[in-house]
Amino acid sequence: MQPVDLIIFGASGDLSARKLFPALFQLDRANLLPTDFRIAAIARDNIDLGTFLSKLRARMSTAMGNNAPSDDEWQQYSRLFSYLNADFSRPTDFSIIKTWLDDQRVSLFYLATPPSLFAPICDYLSQENCLTGDCRIVLEKPIGENLDSSIVVNGTLAQYFSESSIYRIDHYLGKETVQNLLALRFANRFINSQWDQSCIDHIQITVAEVIGIEGRWSYYDKVGQLRDMVQNHLMQLLCLVAMEPPNGLEAESIRDEKVKIVKALRCIDVKTVDDHVVRGQYAQGWSTGRSVPGYTEESGSERNSSDTETFVAIKAHVDNWRWAGVPFYLRTGKRMAEKVTEIIIQYKELPHNIFGGGANLPNKLIIRLQPNEGIEMTMVSKRQSLKEKLALQTHTLNLDFREGHQNDRIPDAYERLFLDAINGDQSLFVGREEIEESWRWCDGLLQACKDQGVEIKPYHAGSWGPAKAEILIEKDGRSWHV
Ligand code: BG6
Repeated sequence: MQPVDLIIFGASGDLSARKLFPALFQLDRANLLPTDFRIAAIARDNIDLGTFLSKLRARMSTAMGNNAPSDDEWQQYSRLFSYLNADFSRPTDFSIIKTWLDDQRVSLFYLATPPSLFAPICDYLSQENCLTGDCRIVLEKPIGENLDSSIVVNGTLAQYFSESSIYRIDHYLGKETVQNLLALRFANRFINSQWDQSCIDHIQITVAEVIGIEGRWSYYDKVGQLRDMVQNHLMQLLCLVAMEPPNGLEAESIRDEKVKIVKALRCIDVKTVDDHVVRGQYAQGWSTGRSVPGYTEESGSERNSSDTETFVAIKAHVDNWRWAGVPFYLRTGKRMAEKVTEIIIQYKELPHNIFGGGANLPNKLIIRLQPNEGIEMTMVSKRQSLKEKLALQTHTLNLDFREGHQNDRIPDAYERLFLDAINGDQSLFVGREEIEESWRWCDGLLQACKDQGVEIKPYHAGSWGPAKAEILIEKDGRSWHV
């Protein structure tokens, strides 16, 4: 294997200090980085390598707590680094990068920068002849803010990189438990054979966060929860739950199946939006025992009122043979009661109840992605009793992924994603078509909300969202799991 160089644009940013460099450090600590690996940290600050590294170590220590590097580990890790001072908007600065690069090695360009810099960085890399040899590019979301702008971003990338060299990150795909969905579905025959409209009543996907806007108000207010979370993370979860078995684990096979699901999502239009979408915005409330401000009172807020949603609940349908008539209820919000990411598979009632007494207790599969990663299955069994002959009760089979591994660290998503990008494996990265089809669906939904004037309902911080989100599911005779 050719030696690999990682070139990080935006090396002094928050993401780099909190996620990227800690993840690379963990790979180094576990001896998983290739031999002769080099890192070029690129940022605007006019400082030397020593100053960059000592600032980085302090920030990483805060972010990593007990897992922070020891002196010896830091010595070893810091040997991988070079620091290049460049202003990404000044083409001439890219000659420094050219001098550092080596054609005989793989160059992995990682853009941890605002999306507005993606195009100029690619242009200048090309102008300075940096894109010779085996070059790959890794990008963070958002890839555009709607279908049109994502086509522009993807078009720019395509001028310089082939699709097989573009690694678009959705960090949810790097989470161990999200990958476990593939194992659960395709390595367990009894689960896979009961995975369609004949057995399943409906599916819920909840991604609830306790945090609010975390100092990102001006960015978030232009985006909202649908673009920030549904277009990417919830869409990926939905695809992994709903897709057909791929032919194999290669990127192409998995992406082909995911795209079919996004394309099969029923469009939500002005006629259906009122029944299928609830938008909310948090007001002042209580979170983890303290009073927290409402969305428009957050620090950095630029307005007294805003029509940006911090919560959205959607009833979606996948129009294909497998999922005909099975609703997918999606729900995500900031400042909710608990941090929970879970997928609920609610099975249908029995076709015929031989036990009488109204006992019809359908099975439920709960896939907990975070926290307390694991799987629960509610099963029905006989209550032990002489008085009642065949009374039923539900029991829970609980598979706790952390059991027996309480002290083991669950690897961060970025560790998996770095490793795969270094090894040239795209299966956990998102393809162009998936992104664009997902935007197509979200754009339609947002337009329908606008045309129909779907109101933003307030909810108290620390709650489960507006009451209307309960009605969305309860009017179908169902209820949210939490
Ligand atoms: C990011 C969103 O992509 O995901 C954030 O921009 C959100 O708004 C975050 O808080 C959630 O990620 P996780 O891994 O904490 O569930």
